[in-house]
Amino acid sequence: MHVWHDVAAMRRDLWPHRRAGRAVGLVPTMGALHAGHLSLAARAVEECDIVVASVFVNPLQFAPGEDLASYPRDPEGDAGLLESAGVAGMFAPSPERFTPPGRRTTVHVGGLTAGLEGASRPTHFDGVTTIVSKLLHAAWPDRAYFGEKDYQQLVVVRAMVRDLDMPVEIVGCPVVREPDGLAWSSRNVLLSEGQRVHAVALSAALRAAAESWAGDADAARRSLRSTLAAAPGIRLDYAEVVDPDTLEPLAGTVEGPARALVAAWVGTTRLIDNMPLGPGGAGRRRAGR
Ligand code: PAF
Repeated sequence: MHVWHDVAAMRRDLWPHRRAGRAVGLVPTMGALHAGHLSLAARAVEECDIVVASVFVNPLQFAPGEDLASYPRDPEGDAGLLESAGVAGMFAPSPERFTPPGRRTTVHVGGLTAGLEGASRPTHFDGVTTIVSKLLHAAWPDRAYFGEKDYQQLVVVRAMVRDLDMPVEIVGCPVVREPDGLAWSSRNVLLSEGQRVHAVALSAALRAAAESWAGDADAARRSLRSTLAAAPGIRLDYAEVVDPDTLEPLAGTVEGPARALVAAWVGTTRLIDNMPLGPGGAGRRRAGR
C-alpha cells in the first residue's frame, strides 16, 4: 500500500488511474480506525476501482481546550487495517504541511452548522468543511464515504458539495455498533470500563425512541431527554428530533422521516449518536420482521 505525506505525490500516483477511467474512492478519517471506518473502506472497495483513505487528525475542527492532544492516534495500526481492507493508499499529511500557519481560507456552510454540534462547538464545522474540501481537491475522488454516525457532518458535507458543484458523490454509510449497541467511535478507547457501561445509555435511549416512534416529535424528544438526564454517569448535551435533510427541530405530528440525535459527556469524553425514526427507521424495520 502506498503511504503519501504530500498532495503532489498522491496526485501524481492517482493521475494514471483517473486517465484510465478508473473510479477513485476516498475514505476521509482521523485515524485510530475501528469497525465503523472499516465498513466505509469495505463499501468503497466494493464500489470503486481504487480506494484511498486519508488519516489526518484535523486540528482545525478542535477548539482550544478540546481533546486534540489526547485524540487517539495509531498510524501503523491504521496502515495495517487499511491494507487488509484492500485500500490502495493512505494519505497522511503532516499538520505543518496540510494546515500551515498563514492559511487564509475557510469553507463555511451556513445554517446547517448552527445547531446541534455547532451550538456546542461553534468552530467545529468550519474546520471539517475546510479540510474535507482540501481532501477532495487533493484526491479528486469520484465518490467519498462518510459515516452516518456523524450525521450532521454528512448533511453539511453534502450541502457543501452541492453548493460548490464539486464533482464527487457523497456516500453515507450506516452507523456500525458494538454488540451492546454502542456506536463505534475512535473516542470509545478513552472510556474507562465503568464509563463504557454508562455510555450504552445513548444508543439504548435512541433505540427506545425509534421503537416507540408514533410520529409525535415532542413526545420522542421529551422521552429521550428525560431518559438520558436520569442515566447514571452521563451528562447530556443535547437530544433532538430533527428533519433528516434540513436538521430543523421537528414539532407536533410528523408524517415523514425524522432523525433523533444525541450528544453527551461520559466523564471527560464527549460522545454523539443518532438513529432514524419513522419510515426506514429501527422501529419500522423491527416491526416488519
Ligand atoms: O469524520 C471525521 O473523522 C472527520 O471529521 C473528517 C471527515 C475526516 C474531517 O477531518
